[in-house]
Order: sequence, then structure tokens, then C-alpha cells
Amino acid sequence: MNAPTPRKPLTLHRLRELHAAGEKITMLTCYDASFAQLLDGAGVECLLVGDSLGMVVQGWSSTLPAKLEQMAYHTECVARGNRTAWVIGDLPFGSYQESVEQAIRSAAVLMQAGAHMVKLEGGGWTTTVVRALVERGIPVCAHLGLTPQSVNALGGYRIQGKGDEAAATLKQHSIELAQAGAAMLVLELIPSSVGADITRSVNIPVIGIGAGPDCSGQVLVLHDMLGVTGGKLPRFVRNFMQGSDGLADAARRYVAAVKDKSFPDPQLHGY
Ligand code: KIV
Repeated sequence: MNAPTPRKPLTLHRLRELHAAGEKITMLTCYDASFAQLLDGAGVECLLVGDSLGMVVQGWSSTLPAKLEQMAYHTECVARGNRTAWVIGDLPFGSYQESVEQAIRSAAVLMQAGAHMVKLEGGGWTTTVVRALVERGIPVCAHLGLTPQSVNALGGYRIQGKGDEAAATLKQHSIELAQAGAAMLVLELIPSSVGADITRSVNIPVIGIGAGPDCSGQVLVLHDMLGVTGGKLPRFVRNFMQGSDGLADAARRYVAAVKDKSFPDPQLHGY
């Protein structure tokens, strides 16, 4: 039997093709070269160097302490281990809120570290920032719903977009960000119905984490899906190590489950 043809590097164009074809897009967080190699080899399409590293790698109780230079260091590590996946560098708290100029400078740091795209949290005021980055050739992934950098303002890690008014605001912000040029949108911890409605309303891939089964793709924090994270995990998380024959097998099973829509389980989502 012939060996499978190696995957071509993922590009924005390819991600748009997958989206247009209705194929679910797979994303996992990743913070180092070894896991980048393993996840890329397992077929994960997008590696997010998330500021969740502040929690799962550095041990803080929120993502706020993650610094730009640390994000750049981990982005470099991931870029070195990766061959074909699309790498997204997360702009950390305090690196883009001050001004458009600050956001451009910070995004440049992550792009020079090897990111193909940057991610930032929030709606409304961020549309100006997104437009400025996109105009300068920097692809942007927006992040709405539960935005962990705002955990202190939100009063904890609570479901967002509940009720007609909150859902309408979320939808409005999503549409504005897509119109400003965001090429991807992460929606975190919102009702499934809101995730489905926003996914239908924007023409960019919407990647859900606790946003129901009808988003264009899914993302999980690597340590959560490998069962490394201690304590109580959100309902929507699945431990792919259970019943797997090692780390690469768990990653392959995640990809397969997102692609065949058996993850996330709508029953377990329940928001
Ligand atoms: O930082 C991160 O890992 C994230 C995901 C939860 C989407 O933003």
C-alpha cells in the first residue's frame, strides 16, 4: 500500500476552502515544539499558542499574567516543531488594549516569532484594531463570548450570551469583526443556539469551545483534552486519552471526532 501523501501547509486560503466545503476545522492549543510536531503529524489543522499557557504551563490562576515576550518564546517553540499546521499567536492581556499602534507592535512580535495569525479578545472597540492589523497584512482571529482576559470584569468563568439582549450584542460584535476583516472567530462558552446563529451569520470560520456542535470547527485546551488538567473541568471537555493508545492516538481521535461531528456531544454541552 502507498504511504499517504504528506499534508501541504495549511494556509488561510485552504482554511477558507474547508469552511466553504462545510468540513469541520480542528484546532488545539499548543505551547512547545514536541507537541507541535505530534499534533501536526496527527492532522490538527490549527495550533493556537494560547495565553492559557499562563494557567496550564505557568500555573497562574488566570491568563492575565502571561507576557508578550513569553507568548513570543512559546510561539517560536511551536513554529520550530510545526511543519504544516496554521499557527495562531495569542496577544496577551495588556499587549493591544492601549492603542492601535501598541497592537500593531505586539502583533509584529508574534508574527516574527513564527505565528501565521494573531488572536485578540473582545468586541466593539476591537474592530478598529482588527481593521488596522488586517490592513497591515496581519491575519486576525477574534475571540468573543467568555473572554478570559476579562474574567475579573465578567465575575468569573461564566457562560456568556444568555438572554436575547446579550445574544444580540454577541452577534452584532461578531458581524462587525468579520466586516473589519477578521479571518476567523473563536466563540467560548455560550449557548449552542447562539453559536449556531452566529456561525450562520458570518462568512468566516467560527471555532467553538463550549459553543455547541454547529460551529465551523472546534478548539480545546491541550491539557484538558489529554486529562492533564486537575480539578473540575467544564462539561463540554472530553478526555481523549481515555481509551487511547498514547498521545498521538488521542490527538488523532480528537481530529476524527471533530471531523465526523461526534465531538462535541450536544447532550453534554447543555448550555
Ligand atoms: O488561550 C487559549 O487557550 C484560548 C482558547 C481557550 C480558545 O484562547
